[in-house]
Amino acid sequence: MSERVKFSFRGQEIVAEAGQSVGAALIAAGHRSWRTTRRDGAPRGVFCGIGVCFDCLVVVNGKPGRRACLTEVLPGDVIEPQEGAGRGELSC
Ligand code: FES
Repeated sequence: MSERVKFSFRGQEIVAEAGQSVGAALIAAGHRSWRTTRRDGAPRGVFCGIGVCFDCLVVVNGKPGRRACLTEVLPGDVIEPQEGAGRGELSC
C-alpha cells in the first residue's frame, strides 16, 4: 500500500498518493481546471503535462506560478487557483 498525503484545495481537504504531482492529485480528485487566463478568464488545467505550456499554473502555499504538472504535492500544502499570471513578484 502506498503512502498518502493530505493537502487542501480551495479549503477542501484532498488525499493524494505520495509522490503525485499537484496536477495529478487535483485531476484524481475530480478537478479539471484551477487557473483562469488574464484576458478572457478562460479555465485552464493540465494541457501538456510535461512542464512546457504553463497552462497548469497554480498557487502553492501562497506562491503563484507553480506548474502543477511538475510540482510534487507535499503533506499540508495549501493549493489555490491562480488568476492569470498571479502576482509577478512572487512568481518563479
Ligand atoms: S500542463 Fe503544461 S506546463 Fe503543466
